[in-house]
Parts: sequence; structure tokens; C-alpha cells
Amino acid sequence: MRELALAVLTLALVACEKKSTVETPPAGDQKQAAKAGGAESDVILIGEVGSLTGSEAAFGISTRNGVDLAIEEANEAGGVKGKKLAVRVYDDQSKPEEAASAVTRLLTQDKVKLILGEVASSNSLAMAPKAQAAKVPMISPSSTNPTVTEVGDYIFRVCFIDPFQGYVMAKYAREELKFNTAAILKDVKSAYSVGLTEVFERKFTEMGGKVVGTEAYSKGDSDFRAQLTALKKLKPQGLYIPGYYNDVGAIAQQAEELGLKTVMMGGDGWDGPPLFELGGKAIEGSYVSNHYSAEDPSPIVQNFIKKYQERFKVVPDSLAALGYDSARVGIEAMKRAPSLDGPALREAIAATKEFPGVAGTITLNAKRDAEKPAVVLQVKDGKFHYVATVKP
Ligand code: PHE
Repeated sequence: MRELALAVLTLALVACEKKSTVETPPAGDQKQAAKAGGAESDVILIGEVGSLTGSEAAFGISTRNGVDLAIEEANEAGGVKGKKLAVRVYDDQSKPEEAASAVTRLLTQDKVKLILGEVASSNSLAMAPKAQAAKVPMISPSSTNPTVTEVGDYIFRVCFIDPFQGYVMAKYAREELKFNTAAILKDVKSAYSVGLTEVFERKFTEMGGKVVGTEAYSKGDSDFRAQLTALKKLKPQGLYIPGYYNDVGAIAQQAEELGLKTVMMGGDGWDGPPLFELGGKAIEGSYVSNHYSAEDPSPIVQNFIKKYQERFKVVPDSLAALGYDSARVGIEAMKRAPSLDGPALREAIAATKEFPGVAGTITLNAKRDAEKPAVVLQVKDGKFHYVATVKP
């Protein structure tokens, strides 16, 4: 596992090692906990787990940038309860097993107060039971599978969930694109993909459409020709691919090669800068549901884009926006909470109302999810372009 610590954290550790500790962790752990800032120190340590390398590296990198920006801003504004914030990030290499061991390290060694992550629902599902058992709040910026927050009352998210997202694309396909038929190509190893497939199929059918065929692949596959050949025979007007950008890019290229003429549709998982390079011409004209559009003229979005671009030299994607939002929701709750103990911080996060996020206003409901509008974007000239907003 690769470990990345911010410069600010390293500096803070040097400073706090000199301080005496007030909490007494079990013998043996004492030195480590003090070092990591888990014991009483002048730094509040936040943990983050993300895919900084591996098949979904773009997710982890954008999210980390968004989180870093939020933490830098909070520190510039004086920190929380007289202390500076620092974040410790572990790379899970885009694998659930690694996400699970990363969260264990954050909980037992680093003794973080709050956990941010993951993006991919399968990775968040591997982490959530551990955060829940330790009573340390976890906020997923962008995992949309409903079961993630069902793990327990310490698990939150700042995004909408897939029963809504799947409905959005089914509705757009039926009402705007006027499709009567669609097919689906899903990743059976991904909780996200399996969940969205089920919702899209149900909603599209309820709205009078027909799903003429569903094919499957497994994360890590790179040849989708057999499935695409089978789908081509069914001549679907639309092909729903609820996968991640890396698979979608390859699928689109192979579909074009095989002469499969259809309109491709997807969800937020398509969002990642490599999509446009991997998919090239083959993804032009496709539609996705997503959390945010960089073309949104509202000041909150445009101010964020400006700051992010100055700092990271690229236009933020939805992961960057949601990473930023998740950290800000956590930090704001830390300010309101009477103490940073798990139960107190949990209560404060649960009370989040009308928080002005970049990817929409955040009110956490009784299930610890955010209910927000989705946008529909179309790929045109190697970019996402805004086409519609759908409200819950
Ligand atoms: N919603 C996806 C999941 O739950 C993750 C994701 C969110 C990917 C936003 C890209 C953009 O797995």
C-alpha cells in the first residue's frame, strides 16, 4: 500500500511529537498514536482512502485534490476549535481488499476523527463495517449504491443514490430520446454496476420501454467482443453501460469496431478525464447522468472551478467537487460538534442541513444520504456538455 501524507501533516507531526499526550492508548500503541496525532495534539487528523493508482486512479486523484483544497481553505480560515486540520491519505489501488486494510490502519494506528472515502461503492462497502464498528464517522463523497449507508448510523454520503440516478437515465431515454428498446452491459463484480442495472431495467420497463438483452463482464476484463456481438443482433436503440470510465472506453472502441450502431448511455462512473482519450470518437454522442456540470453558471460552481484550476491546473470533474463537498461537510460538523468524539461528531454530521455544496445543496436525510438533482450530460468534442437537470 502506498502512503501519501501532505507536507502540512509532516510538519504538524514534527510539532506534536514534542507535546505530551493526554490520552493513554494501550501500551505499544502509545508512540504510534501520539505520532499520528490521534492523541491530544494541535492537529486534527482526518483519514482518507482513495484509488490513487490502479484501474480507477482518476477517481482517487480528483477526490484527493478536492479534499486538499477544502482542508487548505479551512486551515487558512483558522482551522477547527483552535487546531489545524491535516489529512492522511492511503491508496487502495482501486481494490476493495486494500480499501478495507487502509481503513483499519486509519482507525487503529492513525486514530483519525473522520474518514473520507471511497468513490467506488464496492470499496466503500469494504470500509464501512470497520468505521461503523469503531464508531468513527465515514463520509463517502460519491458512492451511490444504496447499501453503503445502510451499513450503519456512522456512514454518510454527500451525493444522491442509484435508485434516483438509474431513474434519471431511464426517463431521459424514454422521454427525450424516445427509445423503445435498450440493452445493458454490466460489471458483475461492481455493486454500483449491478445496482444501477436493476434500477434502469425496472424504470425503463415501467415507463413502457423494453430491455431486449443484458450482458455481463467482470472488472479486469479487457475483451468485450463476445458480449457486444450478442447485443448487436438485438439492435437496441440505446445501450446502457453502468461501468467505470476505463471499461467504458474499451467497450465503446470495441463496439465501434464491431459495427454496433446504438446510442450509449451511462452513469457517474463514466466521469474521469481518461474517458475521452480511451473512448475517442467511439463515445461521441453518448449520454450520462452525473452530479455536477462545469458549465453551471452559478457563482458557487464557478468560484470553485476558478480556485481549483488555479491550484491544480485542470477543470474539476464531479469527483473533485464531491471530494471538496464531503470534506467541507465534515469540517463544518466538527465546528458545530461539542467534541470530536465519534458519537458527538456523528450527531453533528447527521444534522447537516441546507449546506451549500458545489455539487448541489446538501441536507442529509434519515438514511444519511443527500437528495439532490442530477444532471444529464452529453459527450461532444471530447468533453461533457450539459443537456438537462432532473429533480428528485
Ligand atoms: N457512484 C460511483 C459508485 O458508487 C462512483 C463515482 C461517482 C464515479 C462519481 C464517478 C463519479 O461506485
